Amino acid sequence: MDETWDLPEHPELRDGDVLLRRHTATDLDAVVEQCRDADTVRFTTVPTPYGRADAEGFTAGLTAAWDRGEVAGWAVEAGGRFAGTVDLRHRPAGWAEIGFGLAPWARGRGVMTRAARLALAWGFDELHLAGVHWQAVVGNTASWRVAQKCGFRREGEVRGLLVHRGERLDGWIGSLLASELVRTAAPSGA
Ligand SMILES: CC(C)(COP(=O)(O)OP(=O)(O)OC[C@H]1O[C@@H](n2cnc3c(N)ncnc32)[C@H](O)[C@@H]1OP(=O)(O)O)[C@@H](O)C(=O)NCCC(=O)NCCS
Repeated sequence: MDETWDLPEHPELRDGDVLLRRHTATDLDAVVEQCRDADTVRFTTVPTPYGRADAEGFTAGLTAAWDRGEVAGWAVEAGGRFAGTVDLRHRPAGWAEIGFGLAPWARGRGVMTRAARLALAWGFDELHLAGVHWQAVVGNTASWRVAQKCGFRREGEVRGLLVHRGERLDGWIGSLLASELVRTAAPSGA
């Protein structure tokens, strides 16, 4: 009963010039560029080397995972340009896990904090999530800052928490309850 969500039509969510929308075929080149970035390789599970077929599989996989109710994922646009991805992955009994990544050009100006807040607000409001977990490789301070600015509590450092390309890495883990989300002032659905 609780293995997936019953997701609605894919919504667009907006906060100023940050837009969350479904991925399209026009995003593929930018996905490839993003996923060849050194920090993306270091801190996420993207395949490496990363080619156009990986980007096609990733975007098609996200669409299929939405249809199956397993992942609520969005392309992040900043100023009208594809900048990255944010997603909420289904976990049993009313929880989700958040994942995100941005192209280097879009980093360091609050784009992912705004995108994550939009996705989290939608998850709490529309999916009635009780809580969301966040995990990152130990030392991924930029990821932690995003989580912290959304209201997450960092609760531990766990040896061997994450598996990246067959290797176990130590990870940070944190959680956010529905009442704790730091919401962006007056986001509007598009
Ligand atoms: C994590 C990531 C999405 C953050 O996106 P972003 O839009 O740059 O995030 P924000 O601008 O909202 O916040 C980033 C914060 O981290 C800080 N930061 C960035 N790089 C940092 C670093 N190497 N060390 C310390 N702090 C860093 C920024 O100064 C900013 O802090 P501030 O809020 O005090 O100004 C982006 O860095 C990224 O895509 N990294 C590679 C992929 C990745 O790690 N994904 C997450 C996996 S868990």
